[in-house]
Amino acid sequence: MSPSTLTFTTANWNTAQNVTVSAAQDADEANGTATVAAAATGHTGASVAVTEADDDGDTPPITHVDNPYDGADGYVNPDWSTKAAAEPGGDAIADISTGVWLDRIAAIAGSSSARGLRAHLDEALVQDAANGSRPLTIQVVIYNLPNRDCSALSSNGELLIAENGLNRYKTEYIDPIAAIMGESKYAGLRISTIIEIDSLPNLVTNLNLAKCQEAKDSGAYVNGVRYALDKLHAIKNVYTYIDAGHHGWLGWDSNFGPSADLFASTVAGTAAGFDSVDGFITNTANYSPLREPHFTINTTVNNQNIRQSEWVDWNFYVDELSFAQAFRNTLIQKGFKSNIGMLVDTSRNGWGGAARPAAPSTSTDLNTFVDQSRVDRRYHAGNWCNQSGAGLGERPRANPATGLDAYVWIKPPGESDGSSKPIPNNEGKGFDEMCDPAYEGNERNGHNRSGALPDAPISGQWFSAQFRQLLQNAYPPLP
Ligand code: BGC
Repeated sequence: MSPSTLTFTTANWNTAQNVTVSAAQDADEANGTATVAAAATGHTGASVAVTEADDDGDTPPITHVDNPYDGADGYVNPDWSTKAAAEPGGDAIADISTGVWLDRIAAIAGSSSARGLRAHLDEALVQDAANGSRPLTIQVVIYNLPNRDCSALSSNGELLIAENGLNRYKTEYIDPIAAIMGESKYAGLRISTIIEIDSLPNLVTNLNLAKCQEAKDSGAYVNGVRYALDKLHAIKNVYTYIDAGHHGWLGWDSNFGPSADLFASTVAGTAAGFDSVDGFITNTANYSPLREPHFTINTTVNNQNIRQSEWVDWNFYVDELSFAQAFRNTLIQKGFKSNIGMLVDTSRNGWGGAARPAAPSTSTDLNTFVDQSRVDRRYHAGNWCNQSGAGLGERPRANPATGLDAYVWIKPPGESDGSSKPIPNNEGKGFDEMCDPAYEGNERNGHNRSGALPDAPISGQWFSAQFRQLLQNAYPPLP
């Protein structure tokens, strides 16, 4: 108690005097108590009971729920929201939760045009306080492995394996992120982390490229992902979802099983083993539709199975939902927990608008049937850059289908996938011909045209024309 004694005299008996009662920090969960007594000759004594609100234990409760999206609201990134709202009609979606991409070390601190991690979490606390008793989930993309995006160029990062990149990834990137996320004031938020887009799948399918081979031989991708999982899983209110490509990449048996094996061996080597993973995400920043409504993998045309068509090309999946659910089952067989949940990025896989087929084709020619029936209007399912004709997909929501934790919008609609021609920049972004509408392809897209929109800025920058087309071709349509 401070001060420890007080004296009232005939001169000041009438003036209030303050007493501060404090409790030392302890480790128990019991509320401390004290009694302050006042006595004066000739008067009946008075006492005040004081109770401390102990700050140990689960108040507020820090829990790790099975599905962080269940019953929660999503964090609205004000930086993205402002840009979306400034576009005609953009108001309709400007309050939707999108991913916060920590795509370089400097993104942790932020800049004048994009707030950093702490500022996002502080804003998340404000949004959480304003939404009543519902929890708030903020999605943070962890995306800075050395030799990042080793099979493409438009999102190459700042770190290189040959230049001490793995150590820098650990100490200058993951450590500060984990330190901020672990601050006790953020303990009431649900922080969902999306871990390293396209990284481990590149070790399965793209070893003919030197940067991917180096990522494999050096162990940098596997060790980097393990390090991220160890640090992030250790924080009770952080959730981890590893990126698992999409059906048009891993859907063939030659890629599907080996990818699941690589995920399993990677995660088995973390401190907490399979416990360190809450789930996986597919279709991040990609365009694969959830469902092809007019055919399934079992459809036949003129006695030929759909798998034989040029479009499906012997894949075992024709759409993303079937792939995500099947991949989850395989992951569980490989040792992952039976309650892992899948996320699917539906920000740009809507394929609505005038070009969307309303009914299956009546053609009896297999390729004609598939090309006229498919809602995915890409030239090839391996195309990934600023796809012309795409629309916003399902709005984010929890528990949308068996095995899925949520549909999410990780790639913020309106942010470019890469520039359509070389643009000098200081973000480590390269130029990938897959973003050039004139490019005629490589073996990863079956030597097809790129299907990219023209005049795009570098990846991550605002691409107004694309945003407008996404709005226009939204499916389900906007209200
Ligand atoms: C870019 C990032 C960007 C993200 C979201 C990625 O392709 O490389 O810089 O933050 O997309 O738009």
